[in-house]
Amino acid sequence: PSRADDAYALAESAATAIKERMGIESVDVALVLGSGWVPAADAIGETIAESMVTDLPGFAPPAVTGHAGRLRAVRTDKEQIALIFLGRTHLYEGHGVEPVVHGVRAAIAAGARVVVLTNAAGGLRPETQRVGDAVLISDHVNLTGASPVSGAKFIDLTEVYSGRLRDLVREAEPAMSEGVYVALRGPAYETPAEVRMCRSLGGDMVGMSTVLEAIAAREGGAEVLGISLITNAGAGLAGEPLNHGEVLHVGHTTATRMGALLSQVVNRL
Ligand code: 6GU
Repeated sequence: PSRADDAYALAESAATAIKERMGIESVDVALVLGSGWVPAADAIGETIAESMVTDLPGFAPPAVTGHAGRLRAVRTDKEQIALIFLGRTHLYEGHGVEPVVHGVRAAIAAGARVVVLTNAAGGLRPETQRVGDAVLISDHVNLTGASPVSGAKFIDLTEVYSGRLRDLVREAEPAMSEGVYVALRGPAYETPAEVRMCRSLGGDMVGMSTVLEAIAAREGGAEVLGISLITNAGAGLAGEPLNHGEVLHVGHTTATRMGALLSQVVNRL
């Protein structure tokens, strides 16, 4: 078997381990919480069980020692089982694409039909966006140079981010805007020239995650909802240098609002 076949087998064994350890029979929805979204997890439902992802098969070691991602199983108000990934693996960590999409594949193997992907992103449209805004991802431009799919597998990406799910969110949040997410590998932020390039490519926000997980979720047949939290304007657009600490801080101060948003979303699925 190829390395790619091994990755799908590893996702199956992770799904079995998750169900056993968490004492759940199946999963309805998976959520991946990016920076700024993690403190929102408590609002999504009642915790059934929690595990370090590194205690499960196939997850990469953390980039920062002691900051391993956690996985939480939650029961929502509507009695659905949600798997929440608190933290994710990024391509820039250097472990390749497989660990980046492993959680999404495992959740789908455990039964998830809906995958909610959140991230912190730089805003490319300061005319219409404000720091702290949550924006629905309508589509993406994948400039990571990577794909989770290998071999001659031609996955249709006409509607990566489900229009049905975006409509559901707007029933709860009618004013929420949507935009195109441009993904680069990072970990350096973009230069002002690269920010101009992303804008001219039709991008509305820029970040370093989400697109590979979204493609893997579509390959697995799940519906995808993507939401970006605008933590700052892209380099050169606000006249100040980018500061990672500030990006994380904005995430933290908006966490309560993000929790309310996510709990409304999962209870409408
Ligand atoms: Cl400005 N760029 C990228 N690539 N990721 C980000 C960001 C900017 N702001 C938050 N995350």
